[in-house]
Amino acid sequence: MSAASSSTTTSRPAPWRGVIEAYRVFLPVSPATPIVTLLEGNTPLLYSKALSGRLGEPFRVYLKYEGANPTGSFKDRGMTVAISKAVEAGSRAVLCASTGNTSAAASAYAARAGLRSIVLIPSGNIAMGKLSQALIHGARVAAVNANFDVCLELVRTIADRYPVTVVNSINPFRIEGQKTCAFEICDTLGRAPDFHLTPVGNAGNITAQWKGYREYHKIGRAGRLPVMLGFQAKGASPIVSGRVVKKPNTIATAIRIGNPASWRQALAARDESHGRIEAVTDRQILEAYQLLAQEDGVFVEPASAASVAGLLALAKRRYFRPALKQRTRRDEPILLVCILTGHGLKDPERAIQSIRAPRPLPPDLKAISTAVGLH
Ligand code: F0G
Repeated sequence: MSAASSSTTTSRPAPWRGVIEAYRVFLPVSPATPIVTLLEGNTPLLYSKALSGRLGEPFRVYLKYEGANPTGSFKDRGMTVAISKAVEAGSRAVLCASTGNTSAAASAYAARAGLRSIVLIPSGNIAMGKLSQALIHGARVAAVNANFDVCLELVRTIADRYPVTVVNSINPFRIEGQKTCAFEICDTLGRAPDFHLTPVGNAGNITAQWKGYREYHKIGRAGRLPVMLGFQAKGASPIVSGRVVKKPNTIATAIRIGNPASWRQALAARDESHGRIEAVTDRQILEAYQLLAQEDGVFVEPASAASVAGLLALAKRRYFRPALKQRTRRDEPILLVCILTGHGLKDPERAIQSIRAPRPLPPDLKAISTAVGLH
């Protein structure tokens, strides 16, 4: 077929219109809801040759790159719904506590909707990219000398006293929007994966993803339900230890949380799916962080690498082996999806620290070729 005739027979792909338009029937919106969107969602589901190779056939590992969302994290999925509903309800201001990404998304969507945004962040413990987003979008930023859990308690108290809408994931509209990540995965793969791996902080996301899979399964679009595998950072792993962590600590500042709001729902996702919630060390997180960047070309923030760190840790323990015997068809691949929750550019300082910045050189050919390994 000639190029001219093929261009007359192929139709243009429909433009992407954001997660609310894509999944409207699954979401709590009506024709009266004013949709506030930055065209979030439709993020890449990348096959990982590096990780699939480490597990071997018939395992296939995919990366759901949520860093490709407009503000650089999965939070946009929930925020489009939360802010649209806030506008519908006549709200004038939104409020959240955040380790950074929620505040970035809240302030961007609020700016678009013409709402005021107020964010409480743990002072000194949020990545530079995220802070810059909240500031440039015009949020009123309170940098509090306390951790995220204390900031969230303060948010609950402020919301009782002032006319503001809380847009943390305790707002159910956030969970509704975030479940669309599971829908997209099923739509791309043609079924749910066998294993779904995700970082866990405040535990809203694992709650939302499990809800998404269940809803799709119910209407026959998922085929099966995945095993949900969640990963906390070792120094901030209350769900793993079963105890609130008073002083959470990890280089993965996004998930530096000691008392997750959706703790109970995360346990339900784990237990109903016969999954696990485990801890990974900062060292394991940084190894996965570098592996993704250097072998798959995918730059994520440290917290996002927790899902891949967990994958590697479980693979080492041969956790996935029994799945081979449970396959209904021998030629069927075993699909694993790791959620990469946020973009690496959120936290450029960590990237530079973990590799070592180049030292300045004179403009001299010999010095430069030696330094870059061209001998
Ligand atoms: N990954 C990233 C990059 C995050 O920013 C977060 C949470 C998570 C994973 C964990 O998701 O809380 O739903 O279990 N960030 C929140 C924030 C807490 O304030 O931006 P979760």
